[in-house]
Amino acid sequence: MTQDELKKAVGWAALKYVQSGSVVGVGTGSTAAHFIDALATMKHQIEGAVSSSEASTLKLKAHGIQVFDLNEIDTLSIYVDGADEINPQMQMIKGGGAALTREKIVAAVAEKFICIADASKEIDVLGRFPLPVEVIPMARAYVARELVKLGGLPEYRQHVVTDNGNLILDVHNLRILDPIALEKSINALPGVVTVGLFAARGADIALIGTPDGVKTIEK
Ligand code: A5P
Repeated sequence: MTQDELKKAVGWAALKYVQSGSVVGVGTGSTAAHFIDALATMKHQIEGAVSSSEASTLKLKAHGIQVFDLNEIDTLSIYVDGADEINPQMQMIKGGGAALTREKIVAAVAEKFICIADASKEIDVLGRFPLPVEVIPMARAYVARELVKLGGLPEYRQHVVTDNGNLILDVHNLRILDPIALEKSINALPGVVTVGLFAARGADIALIGTPDGVKTIEK
């Protein structure tokens, strides 16, 4: 099976967690795109979706799924999204698609975070995938110097502006042994909007696509 077939399998497997009549939190990226295609088959049974990016909003609308502003919604039962890495504690690195801030906000509102990922995303220690950090443009160089002090090698993601008008630094060379502590310290740097470590609030359920089928991990 190709990596995309594994992503498709988990995208469709997540459909069973969607409750009829609900508003669904929807993530961003190629795996989440498969989930959106699957969700379209239930579009008459759900009220709509809250999206974590302009790209996902466009795709949801193209399928005729109503997209709500998060401020109109009090509760979301689920948030479904991919990950760049996930560890056995269900903590994740996200933001490869630069949507980390909105992803973290929508995930924070949801009761359950359902991570959908192909097996290549499973890892024991987070950090092989460069850690994305969204920064306010004027803080880019300052935050980069601070990230070096934390042991990382930040690289400015060229030609990328986030949906919020900010920049991304991808931090290489990290072996993240205490993800919650690192999430806190990077988030505390002035100029950082969000770090792509989803550790304090990780996934509740992970659907992992393997050549033998979809593996379900529950916290
Ligand atoms: C988007 O900013 C990311 O957090 C994605 O969820 C992550 O990069 C996974 O992307 P794929 O599903 O495309 O692998």
